[in-house]
Amino acid sequence: MLRSLIFVIFALKITKMSDNVSGFSKFSKEEKINWIANEYFDNPNDAISIIKQYWNSDEKIQKLHDDFIENTISNFYLPLGIAPNFLINGNYYSVPMAIEESSVVAAASKSAKYWSKRGGFKATVLGTEKIGQVHFMYKGDTQKLQQFFNTNKTKFFTATEDITRNMQKRGGGILDIELKDKTSELANYFQLHATFETKDSMGANFINSCLEQFAKTLQEAVKNDSTFSEEEKNIQVVMSILSNYIPNCVVRAEVSCQIEDLRDKTITDPQAFAEKFVQAVQIAEIEPFRAVTHNKGIMNGVDAVVLATGNDFRAVEAGVHAYAARNGSYSSLSHAAIKDGVFSFWIEIPLALGTVGGLTSLHPLVKIALQVLKNPSAQELMQIVASVGLAQNFAALRSLTTTGIQEGHMKMHINNILNQFKATDEERQVISKHFENHTISHSAVVTFIESLRK
Ligand code: MEV
Repeated sequence: MLRSLIFVIFALKITKMSDNVSGFSKFSKEEKINWIANEYFDNPNDAISIIKQYWNSDEKIQKLHDDFIENTISNFYLPLGIAPNFLINGNYYSVPMAIEESSVVAAASKSAKYWSKRGGFKATVLGTEKIGQVHFMYKGDTQKLQQFFNTNKTKFFTATEDITRNMQKRGGGILDIELKDKTSELANYFQLHATFETKDSMGANFINSCLEQFAKTLQEAVKNDSTFSEEEKNIQVVMSILSNYIPNCVVRAEVSCQIEDLRDKTITDPQAFAEKFVQAVQIAEIEPFRAVTHNKGIMNGVDAVVLATGNDFRAVEAGVHAYAARNGSYSSLSHAAIKDGVFSFWIEIPLALGTVGGLTSLHPLVKIALQVLKNPSAQELMQIVASVGLAQNFAALRSLTTTGIQEGHMKMHINNILNQFKATDEERQVISKHFENHTISHSAVVTFIESLRK
């Protein structure tokens, strides 16, 4: 009896440990959920009910979300907040932000309001050029390949006419294609390095389609060229893909005012404030450990708007951090200066954004977010996103160099703790009152709730 019980327990353990599955993508949604629930939960019914609780009650909307990716079992919510009062190039914006971190929206709103009374944000797009590359291996005479490329360059444009027609109508297309010899870094390695203008779309599909056609054109044209030997004709295309590093697709946003005008309720010594603020930025310019956190604060704002507007925040993140390291050492994306009694604070940031295509016309909340932003062009969205990043950075540095960051953070975080403890309305009132003049920390809040409940 005991032996068979041990065997059953052992067998159960084995099944739990070998939770690999074949054909998961072929399961129906219901089967997928059941499999997950039975495989990973002691109480599968509870898990199933939570997973389904997050389904949209409108079947059509749920189907739309199911189809965005593969193997969808539910939706993952993030709060969508609004940071109002962003005055950018003379226009007011209420900015939608999708983010889970408490205090980010509050900080952006506070900065927006502060700067709206001091002239607002001035934003300029410095460039919109996107990049893509065909990476290939060629064993042969480099000069012959260069000569071939020069005489055949137009072929790449004509071979992609079907792909570029619509983009050209919108004023975009392929800007240029270069042949790059990378053999000094990797044997036999060459590139077709192409630049693109993709107007209001982020352009990833357009660029990748063009690149894949370039690769075919290259291989075919070389094969048909009798100046190449058989070995030279055997070009190996390794891959054709856009680059998320876009150092010429950059937007600048700036705020500035007379130092005296920085004064407000909590900035009582504007000169000292400005000097310490500039020092904080200078530290992030030269110290990578600080720069990463400094830029993370900027990305709190950037990512939240990028996400709310249905853009690819992973692409933005990758490109931004590469840009921050472009001079060989990771550095601050923002800069600050005091000159002739004027304080200025600015950011330059690469952003590949779209306001058409992708999720922008599919996700109902993305459409709402874009409508709230008055349906901006991609360039306007770049200006808005850069301004929010700068506002976020201003808020963080303002707190860090004055009160410290925890005061504001913990005020917002207290809600999360209260939710965790399922605090009643009465408890919330007592707790809020208590912490008006006591330092907020996780353990202080927890201890206080527990003492209340004793
Ligand atoms: C927290 O999410 C962001 C900050 O750490 C940014 C910064 O340190 O500048 C507050």
